[in-house]
Amino acid sequence: MSILVCGGAGYIGSHTVKELIEKYEVVVLDNLSTGYSFLLDDRVNFVNGDLGDEAVLDRVFTENQIDAVFHFAANSLVGESVQNPLKYYGNNVQATITLLKKMVEHGVGKFIFSSTAATYGIPDTNLITEETATNPINPYGHSKLVIEQILASIAPVHDFQYIVLRYFNAAGAHVSGEIGESHDPETHLIPIILQHLLGQREKISVFGSDYETNDGTCVRDYIHVTDLANAHILAYEGLVDGTASNEIYNLGNGAGYSVKEVIEVCEQIAGKSAVIEYADRRAGDPAVLVASSAKIEKELGWKPQFKLDEIVDTAWKWHERIPMS
Ligand code: UFG
Repeated sequence: MSILVCGGAGYIGSHTVKELIEKYEVVVLDNLSTGYSFLLDDRVNFVNGDLGDEAVLDRVFTENQIDAVFHFAANSLVGESVQNPLKYYGNNVQATITLLKKMVEHGVGKFIFSSTAATYGIPDTNLITEETATNPINPYGHSKLVIEQILASIAPVHDFQYIVLRYFNAAGAHVSGEIGESHDPETHLIPIILQHLLGQREKISVFGSDYETNDGTCVRDYIHVTDLANAHILAYEGLVDGTASNEIYNLGNGAGYSVKEVIEVCEQIAGKSAVIEYADRRAGDPAVLVASSAKIEKELGWKPQFKLDEIVDTAWKWHERIPMS
């Protein structure tokens, strides 16, 4: 039996494949629109194709004995989703419905879904649990919540079980330095700071310094990409052994760091000072997003291994090694 990883050539997908391939056969389906073939492990059976392509899905499910699908293939930029909502509903909702339809047709009934803290919108609490109300404020968060709701409708009527994982701020790179974060364009805070400290960007723009936080900048919960990867494997094994079924779990460290604090940690690790410019707030940014991951710790025994300085250290080693990401 194999696991199908949709989006396995992307940032979080490739790190998950790296852990998964040590224990399982892996098929990756990716159209390389935002993923990279250099992130793919040699041992995977790679299919270059679109998630929404029924013929490709039929072929993948017919030619392989697929036990479960891990679904990472999505667009994930909040700002872009506001500018181009139909791209997000097309790729994140419509194509995922095609995938789910083909899973049901081919009798594949285990699904691990990449969701996001963006489903919570502007939460009314500083420590977000899975009980916190979902109220997305952008099409990206909405597209993920729609799929969560579709999964809840499918499970009772088909031989189908799922786990939803709501990521907070994914960051860092594999400890080997072999794979890491590569986005084009890059919009995420930690890679932007590190690219600046490597001389690849003139300065860092801090989006907003008048939030109601200790230092006025936004607070986020950064979680290492390998910790996220391991949560997927625990979720799959939980579905297999019956420990978990049709559940939603938050994935974060439970600790918030402001933009200024993240810059300081990056400066310490790089041994260099950053040039900072204070800019306007970025549309759609909540002031504070910090996860309680108590539920997955209790139910599946997941515990993050990387603190912020270790996250930045792994990212720094990756960015030092590659000329520009
Ligand atoms: N930021 C800056 N300057 C930059 C880039 C980011 O100040 O150049 C700030 C942002 O305003 C935000 C923080 O740094 O306050 C983190 O921003 P990121 O873009 O790194 O991450 P986001 O919190 O915006 O988004 C991430 C994922 C989304 C997901 C969201 C859920 O990229 O997919 O977490 O919390 F929806």
